[in-house]
Amino acid sequence: MRGGRSRRPCKAGGVIRPPRPDIQTVGIIGTGAMGRGIAQIAAQAGLTVNLYDANPQAVEAARQYLQDTLDKLAAKGRISPDDASATLARVKPCGKLEDLAGCDAVVEAIVERLDVKRDLVAKLEAIVQPDAIIASNTSSLSITAIAVGAKHPGRIAGYHFFNPVPLMKVVEVIDGLSGDGAVGDALMELSRRMGHTPVRCKDMPGFIVNHAGRGMNIEGLKVAQEGVAEYADIDDIMREQAGFRMGPFELMDLTGLDVSHPVMESIYSQFYQEPRYRPSPIAALRSVGGLVGRKAGAGFYSYPDGRKTRPTPAAPAPAARPKSVWVSRACEHGHTLVTNLLSKLGTTPETGTLPSADALIVVTPLGLDATSCALQEGLDATRTVAVDTLLPFEATKRRTIMTTPATTATDRDAAHGLFASDGVPVTVIRDSAGFVGQRVICSIVNIASDIAQQRIATPSDIDLAVNLGLGYPKGPLALGDAIGPQRILECLRNLERLTGDMSYRPSPWLWRRAGLGLSLLWD
Ligand code: NAI
Repeated sequence: MRGGRSRRPCKAGGVIRPPRPDIQTVGIIGTGAMGRGIAQIAAQAGLTVNLYDANPQAVEAARQYLQDTLDKLAAKGRISPDDASATLARVKPCGKLEDLAGCDAVVEAIVERLDVKRDLVAKLEAIVQPDAIIASNTSSLSITAIAVGAKHPGRIAGYHFFNPVPLMKVVEVIDGLSGDGAVGDALMELSRRMGHTPVRCKDMPGFIVNHAGRGMNIEGLKVAQEGVAEYADIDDIMREQAGFRMGPFELMDLTGLDVSHPVMESIYSQFYQEPRYRPSPIAALRSVGGLVGRKAGAGFYSYPDGRKTRPTPAAPAPAARPKSVWVSRACEHGHTLVTNLLSKLGTTPETGTLPSADALIVVTPLGLDATSCALQEGLDATRTVAVDTLLPFEATKRRTIMTTPATTATDRDAAHGLFASDGVPVTVIRDSAGFVGQRVICSIVNIASDIAQQRIATPSDIDLAVNLGLGYPKGPLALGDAIGPQRILECLRNLERLTGDMSYRPSPWLWRRAGLGLSLLWD
């Protein structure tokens, strides 16, 4: 019940005054994976939770699930037994939609279909008070579209939680075109009361997290499609050199291509074929073939007995070493990093302006491939290898080197042996403008920059959302700052020039801030 508070009138099209921040009773419609998670955090925050599902058994199953979860938390000493029973007592299973009449806010987590969600909104508007909030947990539908046809579209907002809700402590609050800002404000406040970090965004495809997440998966798939490296090698680089918790293929196996490929297709088409979001034929084919990931026992990795198996073993470091080494000065920063490392490895590089006849030639490009470096600098491509110095290079768990198509096996192995001689594993990839790590990192930073440019969310909310929602080591804009916006820009410009692929065109947000020497978080 509403505790005797007076109700405010509501004009058609919006709530006249800010909805009260002291929401006490929440209705949850759809008590599947998401609904029960939202119910848990709401009940634990002291709210009364009315649970409804079209399938009555789902309501009972959710209540039982909540009881089991709260009992487990009490057994582990995370909450007291009294708290557990008081929390459960606040959860009220409902047999019909009309039982939600007294809710201050209703969160729907039903099937992801626009027609069904609109139909639910219409039914709810006939039941709840005119100023009650109606929030949707949709992950892919437009909030504006869900609100079309509503009597009071101002009260409808997106409220996008992540699975599993109690552990994923971030929620996106989405303002539809017809939404009342005060409704979003109230949901922001409600999130904090439930122990979640809210981020605010405009109603655009993918909101923040699913939009920002395009960089890693799509670029990873592109690298694999070009035959640059095996799936496991790409994951190794992203995990051990770039510092991510998982590489793109491990992540897609966890989510399942049956979920992530349709999301890629949907965001691509909703942005009208924006090349940055172009889905991959690899993902399409593997989805059709049923290699969708961990849940199917087979994805980019196989999972006999549920445990991930690497498709190809990592190559051991050869014992070979080069007779001498020459390091290109075309990229001064990379030259310094490589010569410092070589001195720690006990090797003094040649000092001449050109390599001697037998020297291993090392180049350190940003956004270029080894072949272009050899051609531009007039170097012998058969002895040339490139080393990725954009990612952590000296104190790192992995290094990446790449060859030209002409590099001899002797020079490749000598370079591999040399750069692994302090025990840091080296991944040898085929020629690629921007290696693996540069391409993926720059794509992530560029897409986040464009989310900021489009004013979908503030720079700090973009970083918070990605950090908490995707588990990246840093927010993408802070990551770009740590590497240096100018270096990211140089990579992207070279990638765009060399490949002709518009997906690498730098966002204005990035090139303006890089040019002015400003942080990517500068608004
Ligand atoms: P689910 O399939 O586990 O649960 C959906 C529940 O809604 C079912 O119990 C079903 O009986 C009920 N339902 C369906 N139509 C209904 C209707 N018209 N009225 C009342 N109940 C109805 O689905 P899940 O995964 O919990 O997803 C729910 C919503 O949350 C979807 O919009 C989805 O896109 C979104 N979402 C899902 C995430 C996930 O990882 N599963 C993450 C973020 C958002």
